[in-house]
Amino acid sequence: RTFLSLMGAAALTSSMMLTGCGAGSGDDRKIVRIGHVQSQTHPDHLGLEAFANYINEKLGDKYRVEVYPSELLGSQTEMVQLTQTGAIDFVVASTAIMETFSAKYQIFNLPYLFSSVEAYHEAMDDPEVTDPIFKTTSKAGLETVAWLDAGTRNFYTIKTPINQPSDLKGLKIRVQQSPTNVEMMRLLGGTATPMGFGDVYTALQAGILDGAENNELALTDNGHGDICKYYSYDMHQMVPDLLVANYAFLNELSDEERAIFEEGFQIVKRTEQDAWEDAVAEAKDKAENEQHVNFIYPDTAPFQEAMAPLHDSVLAANPELQPIYDLIQQHNAAHTAD
Ligand code: GCU
Repeated sequence: RTFLSLMGAAALTSSMMLTGCGAGSGDDRKIVRIGHVQSQTHPDHLGLEAFANYINEKLGDKYRVEVYPSELLGSQTEMVQLTQTGAIDFVVASTAIMETFSAKYQIFNLPYLFSSVEAYHEAMDDPEVTDPIFKTTSKAGLETVAWLDAGTRNFYTIKTPINQPSDLKGLKIRVQQSPTNVEMMRLLGGTATPMGFGDVYTALQAGILDGAENNELALTDNGHGDICKYYSYDMHQMVPDLLVANYAFLNELSDEERAIFEEGFQIVKRTEQDAWEDAVAEAKDKAENEQHVNFIYPDTAPFQEAMAPLHDSVLAANPELQPIYDLIQQHNAAHTAD
């Protein structure tokens, strides 16, 4: 992967240096580069392909959208940095990674923030919840333009089935590079090992990790189910992925172009979200029947109880999040458990 990311970065640099904007001689279209960490069959990629087709069709004389999957341009953190400086134009990043660029994103990384999938979707579709956060990274050069479903995150392990929080004691669990996630593992008694997504497979294989936590697609798309045989539905987080844009790029678009891009952002979101449920069902089926992963359904209450202090500590450190948190509780009350 390191080799690939070096190759990706080298290709990116040379194509930018050689051509400035267009792809070849006489082509002065601007290349719009989007980086993400997933495979080419993942819903995020399908959404971005639909976006690329739409923009290339509507504005193909001025722009050419190129989608770079599989961490070709670097890890998620590196790609957010590239987007920040404008070396690339968009990245798909988890809210977990975004919290290191703007603390307000921490709210979406709170365990058991949403009471149901319906509450999650409705809250994420409520601009009163998202605008104060999505727009706050403009000063850092970033703006979030759409949220994408990334399902529910659960623990999975190589050989220790997780039935209750105490089963995590002493286990080395990979988490995303986010202080909230590290604190989450501390509260559970496990040992958090933060690392980039692309390094997890090798670390599991080498026995550096005892397990990780993610949605079901990590088992199949990323092969983690080849190594981890226990997937435990503790349902600790619904952490969305975000399509994040370079702020200057967005603001340099003409009003007409901006309207087309905005429609494009809705296309990414719709395509991705429409594909999500089937992708999870397919992954679960493959994990169960081909990789022989055991799915476990523990009582989630003890997990929720152990992680509850995180809500108070994040709100105490970021009082400006309180009104947003309260709004989310209203969505929760309207849609209690599934
Ligand atoms: C999910 C999520 C990614 C994230 C990854 C991870 O796949 O969609 O955005 O990078 O988890 O755990 O790192």
